[in-house]
Amino acid sequence: MLWLFLLTLGVVIICIRHLLESWNFPPGPPRYPIIGSLLSIEKYGSHLILQATKLIPQFPKMVGFFAGQMRVVIINDFDLAKKMAFSDTFSGRLIGMYTETMRGYNRNIGVISTQEFGFGNKGMWSIIADEAGIIVTDLKTQWDGQDLMVNQTFNISVLNILFKIVSGKRYRPDDPEMKELMRVLALVFKSAYIEEVFPILQYTKFTRELYGHSQKQLLTQTFKSMFEQVIQEHEQKLHTKESPEDFIDVYLQAKEGNDLFTKEDLIGICMDFFEAGGETVGSTLSWVFLYMSLNPEVQEKCRKEILQSLGVREPTMDYRGSVPYTEATIMEIQRCSSVAPSGLEHKALEDTELDGYTIKKDTLLFYNINAFFMDRDYWGDPEEWLPVDTLLFYNINAFFMDRDYWGDPEEFRPERFLNDDGSKTLKIERFIPFGFGKRVCMGESLAKAELFIFTIMILQNLRIKISANHAKPDPGQYEAGITRSPLPFHVTLEAI
Ligand code: HEM
Repeated sequence: MLWLFLLTLGVVIICIRHLLESWNFPPGPPRYPIIGSLLSIEKYGSHLILQATKLIPQFPKMVGFFAGQMRVVIINDFDLAKKMAFSDTFSGRLIGMYTETMRGYNRNIGVISTQEFGFGNKGMWSIIADEAGIIVTDLKTQWDGQDLMVNQTFNISVLNILFKIVSGKRYRPDDPEMKELMRVLALVFKSAYIEEVFPILQYTKFTRELYGHSQKQLLTQTFKSMFEQVIQEHEQKLHTKESPEDFIDVYLQAKEGNDLFTKEDLIGICMDFFEAGGETVGSTLSWVFLYMSLNPEVQEKCRKEILQSLGVREPTMDYRGSVPYTEATIMEIQRCSSVAPSGLEHKALEDTELDGYTIKKDTLLFYNINAFFMDRDYWGDPEEWLPVDTLLFYNINAFFMDRDYWGDPEEFRPERFLNDDGSKTLKIERFIPFGFGKRVCMGESLAKAELFIFTIMILQNLRIKISANHAKPDPGQYEAGITRSPLPFHVTLEAI
């Protein structure tokens, strides 16, 4: 009888705890004790953020989920997202088993203290152009007239840029060890958060493998020992150099006599850059191939503009402004592909409220970048399209006459990012592929330079066509975790 009493007591405690946790929590699909919203999430598909977009008609501002025991809020409303992203209270990140134990040194390591290290300077442009030149020449010589399967094709080149900036090293684009690292890195991105949502999975070998535990461990160990070795080499040579040659040199110099800088954090920062800056830019370049093959007239228009403005000269960011249509096309590719559909999690650092709802400490909040990019009301609303320096009476006419400005977020249309005469790109508040606020992407200027220089060099050298022998690339076929990348697809390349 005692066991029945204890069982009933346990169930009652769990139910009361659940009621207290749910009290005034943002509305969302039904949630139950222990399993949370999992039953209701399942019917909307596996990717929480992309699927939260489907719930917008029911929950236009924000959706509250219980992922197991973890409280997660996804913000669909742009102004509310802005309020959250710019607030100190919501500027935390999840510290869990992956970040602390596996990736860290029993403490969280990485980024933060390095804000002043500039990613956008001119030295970086030539590093990017060198790397783009190598892969484009490879594609041009080896794949002319052939069908290329685009599958993480640019990821190693993008990692090489980071290697060069951080440590001065580079790898061949076909290096098998790097390819394996990239594969596992993609897996980490696809299965992020699972072990934190279901901590119970950590207890047996079988369940650990459901979220790729040993592969993740291998990846983090490989990254750690790789950077440990590179840092050691840098330490040995540090005092023989006249000035710092790369990021590790800069950090090691700053570290001398300053306890705030540690070698473990340096390893963490290097890992941050590789985790955040490889897959994101690499996937965007795959989307460039996909959308260029599907939109040959856009591709030709970009190429014409590029050849008129810089011919076959090596691109630098100084050419920004002189190829507005190409810039607008890159922006449209970023909008349509939503490579980081939800950014990273923001953790509430204390009990607080948001839009009248109670947000308890440690709740995770995401903003739904994908929803902002696909918002029919926004992308069709002429009022919000006014370029800062355009006179209103001029535009009213243009807007009223231009049917294309109305309600077409699903369309691939670079013109939406251009002013009326196509001479410059527009700054559009809701276009935030790199997030915004207190935790905005640290690599934004590097990523922008990479996308600009790679895209121009690709178009200077290659024509990308739909393959006659394979299925047409389909933007609806993608894999999504932290990042969203197209499933492998084929295109035919033609050297120019
Ligand atoms: C197309 C490429 C990229 C996209 C779309 C992208 C997008 C994002 C987004 C949405 C966030 C989260 C913002 C937030 O939580 O509010 C983020 C964070 C971050 N990104 Fe990027 N990113 C890209 C490339 C890069 C590159 C090249 C690097 C560096 C090498 C980088 C480094 C970081 C870091 C370190 C953070 C975390 C910042 C923090 O926690 O304070 N990213 N990125």
